[in-house]
Amino acid sequence: MHIEDPKVVAALSKFNVELRRASSFAELTSLAIGGTTDLLRIKNHEFIPGLLSLLDSHGVPHRFLGGGSNLLVGDGELPWVVLQLASPNRDVVLEGNFAQVDAVADLGRTVTYCAKHDLGGMEGLIGVPGTVGGALRMNAGAYGMQIGSYVREVKLYRAATRQIEILRGEQISFEYRHTSFAPDDMMLAVRLELPSKAYREILQGIRICNEKRRSSQPLGQKSAGCIFKNPPGASAGRMIDELGLKGLSVGDARVSDRHANFFVNAGRASANDMLALIADVRERVRSAFSVELEHEVVIWNA
Ligand code: EPU
Repeated sequence: MHIEDPKVVAALSKFNVELRRASSFAELTSLAIGGTTDLLRIKNHEFIPGLLSLLDSHGVPHRFLGGGSNLLVGDGELPWVVLQLASPNRDVVLEGNFAQVDAVADLGRTVTYCAKHDLGGMEGLIGVPGTVGGALRMNAGAYGMQIGSYVREVKLYRAATRQIEILRGEQISFEYRHTSFAPDDMMLAVRLELPSKAYREILQGIRICNEKRRSSQPLGQKSAGCIFKNPPGASAGRMIDELGLKGLSVGDARVSDRHANFFVNAGRASANDMLALIADVRERVRSAFSVELEHEVVIWNA
């Protein structure tokens, strides 16, 4: 979508928002798939309510983008603009066992920074691509831990109230790859409480997780991590593998040879290729195991 209205364009600078015309999701997502639209980069949280009223009153549909590492976006010119927070200079501030973290902070870098200050607990998340805000929204987890366990407070923009609010940890429910945040809530910052642990000990945990990940996941390739959630008590990856589907492809969209729940863009896959592959695998799992796999990847296809 191209913002045409000169009044809207002029108001954007008043809100300290940078307009990047025709930005491509091939560059904004780890899958390197998706069409183009205008990107609005937000530099000050306090202008978000005003910005969103402006877009709503001029009928400009919008979506919030995090790190783009768990996202599959449709092809062509997209019918909405995309909003993204710009990174502040300092995105993690520590105070005792608390870490105040900006939602745009890189997840891996945050885990390492906390580790260097003897704060642990998040070792399992090392190697998970994306931002802290994205991890928070999805309740990212790995190797027996999930980020939700450490959340004490969240600052967010609530689309329902059109206000910036602060929620306490107990007001949020964190389940397996699911939270009680609304889809149009925008994560702004989080306060984590992390257990004290010696850096050397954390580093050991980080090395083990890194090694496990390297040996079982296609890390160097363009992917969105796991495509499907694991059904209760089972592994989507193992089921797809058991059906012999590693290497199955539609165009350049391909089931990874390394981990069957990772679908990679092996070249110039389109969103339609990837969606067709996802639908095909889902159907085969349904007919072989009578299990309806749920998407773990977020799909913006309209
Ligand atoms: N397996 C196979 N073939 C495969 C893949 C896996 O047989 O192609 C088997 C493994 O050998 C293992 C079992 O399935 O016995 C489970 O595999 P794995 O340990 O790789 O874990 P997973 O259940 O496939 C989950 C998360 C990952 C997370 C890992 C490590 C989901 C959907 N996936 O994968 O998260 O990194 O555990 O904790 O919850 C993600 O969220 O995007 C993601 C990749």
